[in-house]
Amino acid sequence: MTNATSAAVSATSFTDSDVGKVSAAPVKEALTDFAAKMAATLESLLPHTDGPESKLFDAMRYSALGTGKFLRPYIVRTAAQMFDVPEKHYLRAGAAVEMVHTYSLVHDDLPAMDDDDMRRGRPSCHIAFDEATAILAGDALLTLSFEVLAGVDTHPDPLVRSDLVMMLAARSGGTGMVGGQMIDLESEHAVVDAALIARLETMKTGALISYSSAAGAILGQAGAEAIKTLETFGLELGLAFQITDDLLDVEGDEDDVGKKVGKDAKAGKATFLSALGVDGARSEARRVTDSALSRLDMFGAQADALRSVAEFVLARNN
Ligand code: IPE
Ligand code: IPE
Ligand code: MG
Ligand code: MG
Ligand code: MG
Repeated sequence: MTNATSAAVSATSFTDSDVGKVSAAPVKEALTDFAAKMAATLESLLPHTDGPESKLFDAMRYSALGTGKFLRPYIVRTAAQMFDVPEKHYLRAGAAVEMVHTYSLVHDDLPAMDDDDMRRGRPSCHIAFDEATAILAGDALLTLSFEVLAGVDTHPDPLVRSDLVMMLAARSGGTGMVGGQMIDLESEHAVVDAALIARLETMKTGALISYSSAAGAILGQAGAEAIKTLETFGLELGLAFQITDDLLDVEGDEDDVGKKVGKDAKAGKATFLSALGVDGARSEARRVTDSALSRLDMFGAQADALRSVAEFVLARNN
């Protein structure tokens, strides 16, 4: 997967005493600032047309430019900044994963899947438009993401672009997000153990977050070890993110999360809460986050901004 990774990871001169002194506090504010930039990037990448297909683009814009946190592109940016990647490159690599994420949510909300009417504080795409349009908007967001990554403005080196395309495709598809969604649906109302729940949550949510952290190292041509390490970090961080999503479904406030709460138990979803209860799920989220954080040791203090993102994932209320 990493054919553009010839440079070895440079040895770090940081010591262990530099790490572990981060908090989630700066991330919330930074995400707000970053959101305007990401929204402008997405706006510029989403095609405009007044042709007969314009409803499709209206639905894509509606879904992509709501009140999403843009956490995945923010992770791309945070990882990319560790390797001095120019902004114009990480914004496009971030927009691509946000498009895939948005498509996954549009389809996740469909009646055939989770049947959710509310998303990002407003009616889900299939409610605001119609089911067929929501399916097509998801399809078009997915394919546009690869068009964006393959574009020369994403990185001058075609091998870097092809690594990004390969990584996003692998993380989005049957061995990643889509495969996780399949297990999620198959597990409804079934007796499943914590190992299967970890697998489904790592696939459905960890996979795209893994792309996000690894993309920064791919863009920075940081070397195979750095890419692999950030992939593993992202997989574990993504699992922690999904556990906190499951917790918010029970403990969160509908206005904060922008979607209905209390849906998972009603739908018979297999989550860490159904397997371990609220306290068990919370300690599992901490444990998995700590494991993710331990992956960053090789980067020393250079990874502090990523460490803050991990703390944010645990502390978030939306
Ligand atoms: C929600 O993701 C779906 C999951 C994968 C848990 P987010 O909580 O990142 O949703 P947005 O993008 O901010 O709306
Ligand atoms: C969704 O998980 C993960 C995706 C791949 C879309 P959920 O079904 O728990 O996400 P929400 O709670 O609807 O946002
Ligand atoms: Mg779902
Ligand atoms: Mg859902
Ligand atoms: Mg959920």
